[in-house]
Amino acid sequence: MTSSYRGADVGTAPIESQPVLQVRGVTKRYPVRTGILGRKEFHTAVDNVSLSVQSGKTLAVVGESGSGKTTLGLMVLDLLQPTSGEILYRGQPFSSRSGSNKRALRREMQVVFQDPYASLNARLTVREALTEGMIIHKIGDSAKEREGRALDLLQHVSLPPETLDRYPHEFSGGQRQRIAIARALSVEPGFILLDEPTSALDVSVQSQVLNLLLKLQREFNLTYLFISHNLEVVSYLADEVAVMEKGRIVEQGPVDDIFDRPAQDYTHRLLAAIPRIGSSL
Ligand SMILES: Nc1ncnc2c1ncn2[C@@H]1O[C@H](COP(=O)(O)OP(=O)(O)OP(=O)(O)O)[C@@H](O)[C@H]1O
Ligand SMILES: [Mg+2]
Repeated sequence: MTSSYRGADVGTAPIESQPVLQVRGVTKRYPVRTGILGRKEFHTAVDNVSLSVQSGKTLAVVGESGSGKTTLGLMVLDLLQPTSGEILYRGQPFSSRSGSNKRALRREMQVVFQDPYASLNARLTVREALTEGMIIHKIGDSAKEREGRALDLLQHVSLPPETLDRYPHEFSGGQRQRIAIARALSVEPGFILLDEPTSALDVSVQSQVLNLLLKLQREFNLTYLFISHNLEVVSYLADEVAVMEKGRIVEQGPVDDIFDRPAQDYTHRLLAAIPRIGSSL
């Protein structure tokens, strides 16, 4: 699959220095219940956020629960409309995409959630889960070829071939997350949103999955947006960090700078709240 990998052929001609993902001044207001006198009330979950991620790099978005991380992630996947602002993938705004160009974006940008059950249909065998997206996006000319690709994916995530004809519930949490990762890779994406991908896993399994994500990033030149509240996990995976508080980015920079010289009290508190080295990985 490596030789036929085509993760970079969507959108305008890629310019080397152009970020894969650009978020420009994005705001999301959720309508909350209507107040007295019928006045509509809104909650601003994401407030004028701008960020960008370079090809093959990982940007982590960290922040306490409710700070707006998942809301931002859903907008980045084009699953939720921003109230205002614009998101660009390989230089092309989401708003300018339609038809086949929009379908290409659906293939290019994949997601792995905290709970693999959220991304894995319990009624589908692993074979079906891994080939479903290939069929939708016309990858592989025959069932045989798609099976070959599925077996290749299993090898990439270190699962045995017999995994193909089993169901998600037959696997441990860590194995399920490997299947979810293989499924995300099945449509040859260039970008993966990782929303707390290891938070539900046993500590001993977390580092294995993080190592797998790092290995796959190198193998397929994947760009990651990694959402987490765990700064230790972030330090392991990320190149850059954006710190989110109440919908806003309050601090952003290379991972070492944020860890060594956090400028904000809020970041200090996040750092102080994480378990010490070795205990949370
Ligand atoms: N569909 C919705 N309608 C109204 N409010 C929402 C909706 N989804 C999220 N919110 C609110 O928006 C804010 C941000 O939520 P979000 O899920 O993005 O936070 P988060 O940083 O991902 O939190 P966590 O770490 O707990 O996953 C919260 O106050 C949440 O209650
Ligand atoms: Mg969330």
